[in-house]
Order: sequence, then structure tokens, then C-alpha cells
Amino acid sequence: PVEETLVLVKPDGVARNLTGEILRRIEAKGYQLVDIRLVEADLELLSQHYAEHQGKPFYEPLIEFMQSGPIVAIRVAGERVIEGFRSLAGTTDPTTAAPGTIRGDLGRDWGLKVQQNLVHGSDSPESAARELALWFG
Ligand code: CMP
Repeated sequence: PVEETLVLVKPDGVARNLTGEILRRIEAKGYQLVDIRLVEADLELLSQHYAEHQGKPFYEPLIEFMQSGPIVAIRVAGERVIEGFRSLAGTTDPTTAAPGTIRGDLGRDWGLKVQQNLVHGSDSPESAARELALWFG
């Protein structure tokens, strides 16, 4: 099915000038950019976005990191794009993410309390609908 997903270029990706490279990979895969915005996310938005992680040891550092600079939020469409973008992104830990993926090629572990892993992608159709409503209204 044609789906939509929320992709975020996190503050580390924007600060490292990797937004263009990340957009290039999404476009090269054949997905459509439907909407895009630069966002300085506040606590309200982030606590809703990351509600499922509340209470985990990396939650507070994650919320702090996500407020450390602008984020690029992108509405991306395509056949099986939810699963497809997560495959493009690679697994959470950039050290072990497969080469060829965004995190595997461009990310590394900075030895911090939270994985600064360049991108976020919705993990299910339910998450995509919820997250797109949060970031794009
Ligand atoms: P994301 O896909 O945005 O969802 C939650 C984020 O928390 C994740 O990317 C990482 O940035 C971070 N994260 C997830 N698991 C861990 C972990 N075990 N240790 C540190 N950070 C994590």
C-alpha cells in the first residue's frame, strides 16, 4: 500500500549539514517528499512524540538532545515507505548499523547517554498517523 511516514532529521543531522544527503537518499530510493519544515521542537511536542519512552534511562537526555537545535520534519510518501525508510535508516546504534544505511554510513557513537543517530522514522502505520498529526497538524 502507498503509505506516509514521518522522517525527522534530528539536531545532529542538521548541525552536521547532512540534511541534503539524507533527502538525496530518500529521493533516490523513489519516495516522494510531500511536505517539509524546519522545527524548533518544544517540550510539549517532544513529550508527546516520545510518550512511549517515558521512564526509560535515555528519555531525559533524548528530550534534551532533541531541543539542542533545529529539526527538519518531512512527510514522505511511497509504497511500503514506513518499513522502507527504517531500512534506509539502519538500526538504532550507529556503530553497528549496516554500511549502506544512513546511520551505518554517516553516524557514529559519541559516547553520550543518548544515541545521536541522525534520523527518526515512524515504526508502524499507527505511529505514522499519530506522529504526522503532531508535527504537521
Ligand atoms: P528514535 O527512533 O528517534 O526513538 C527513540 C530514540 O532514543 C532513538 O531514536 C535513539 O535516539 C534513542 N535511543 C533508543 N534506544 C537507546 C538506548 N538504548 N540508549 C540510548 N539512546 C537510545
